[in-house]
Amino acid sequence: MKDLFGNALRDYHNNNYTEDLVTSTNISDKDDLPLPYLFRSFVEMPKLEQKALQLAKGQVLDVGCGAGSHSLYLQQKGLKVKAIDYSKGAVEVAKARGVLTVELKALLDETETFDTILLLMNGTGIFQELKQLSTYLKHLKSLLKPNGQILIDSSDIQYMYEDDDGGLWIDTNAEYYGELDYFLSYKGEEELPMKWLYLDFERLNLACESVGLTCEKSTEGEHFDYLARLT
Ligand SMILES: C[S@@+](CC[C@H](N)C(=O)[O-])C[C@H]1O[C@@H](n2cnc3c(N)ncnc32)[C@H](O)[C@@H]1O
Repeated sequence: MKDLFGNALRDYHNNNYTEDLVTSTNISDKDDLPLPYLFRSFVEMPKLEQKALQLAKGQVLDVGCGAGSHSLYLQQKGLKVKAIDYSKGAVEVAKARGVLTVELKALLDETETFDTILLLMNGTGIFQELKQLSTYLKHLKSLLKPNGQILIDSSDIQYMYEDDDGGLWIDTNAEYYGELDYFLSYKGEEELPMKWLYLDFERLNLACESVGLTCEKSTEGEHFDYLARLT
């Protein structure tokens, strides 16, 4: 990983903001990911994220914390938060912004236990592929204290396969339609391609059942997105 995402966070934090990250996928064209969005305050967050932060309790793990916006809010509310990210730049920036406990770590390497585990901004993306879903869910379950909860958001992106007259062009022989190849570039450099998983609620629900987690839809967003609470 070249950590272009981390470089962009560093630039923004150090007042060197000149351009946004550019993302694209195997099914969509280039789109800007505005850097200020990654530094959003509570009022600037989507409803689903606000709801997740309201539900957070006890000792919290913020997985893939990025610039640490969610961690900072919860910390200011008095919760004990640990933030992890596998991007060096993200960890540096989250620390510099005031998140007290931040570690450079991939989710599968975490071993402590928590009352609340947050995975936000399409949290299922971190699982990358459908075939890794149960590995990640089992691991997340092992990180829960008694009565703990996992708060994760995602969306059903079937709508992205609709053509103008409402027909669907999903290739039924292909892998799951929510499994995307994700491309990121910044300042003319391209990150190594990665997989990013968007997961419809029904599939998440079934996968949770199979690993002994209860899954409820906590809130729906305006565009096929949802916040799920796993216990
Ligand atoms: C879409 S960003 C979201 C950042 C932040 N949660 C937010 O909402 O602004 C996803 C973050 O997850 C991190 N990430 C992806 N896979 C990870 C993994 N397996 N373990 C830890 N962090 C991961 C990325 O480096 C990135 O910072």
